[in-house]
Amino acid sequence: MSRILLLGAYGLAGRAIAEAIVRTSSHVVLASGRRHDRLAAQFAGADPSRLQILPLDATDARALGELGDAVTILTILGGNLGTQ
Ligand SMILES: NC(=O)c1ccc[n+]([C@@H]2O[C@H](COP(=O)([O-])OP(=O)(O)OC[C@H]3O[C@@H](n4cnc5c(N)ncnc54)[C@H](OP(=O)(O)O)[C@@H]3O)[C@@H](O)[C@H]2O)c1
Repeated sequence: MSRILLLGAYGLAGRAIAEAIVRTSSHVVLASGRRHDRLAAQFAGADPSRLQILPLDATDARALGELGDAVTILTILGGNLGTQ
């Protein structure tokens, strides 16, 4: 079972994709975005064995590198990437 890093997970598209991955596969979703409060609110009822929140900036290469090779990254970002 692989871990899937979903960047932009509380965005309009990201939240639907996170729910679909959990519902239709055995992969573990690492739901990411820059704001911990929004991640916590969006995924408050999630099963932690299937979905974990991980505050992270997609432009932070070092943080991405620390996740290791076992993570597949899905990028579901809005148009503001890299502007904040
Ligand atoms: N919604 C649709 O119906 C639809 C349809 C077709 C295609 N799309 C495409 O899908 C993509 C996402 O659309 P959306 O409507 O879901 O946008 P959205 O609601 O604005 O969500 C974008 C997400 O990306 C995150 N994000 C932005 N920059 C980031 C960064 N540097 N690091 C980590 N997370 C970052 C945002 O969180 P923070 O800014 O808080 O970090 C947010 O969670 C866009 O490219 C859009 O063109 C959307």
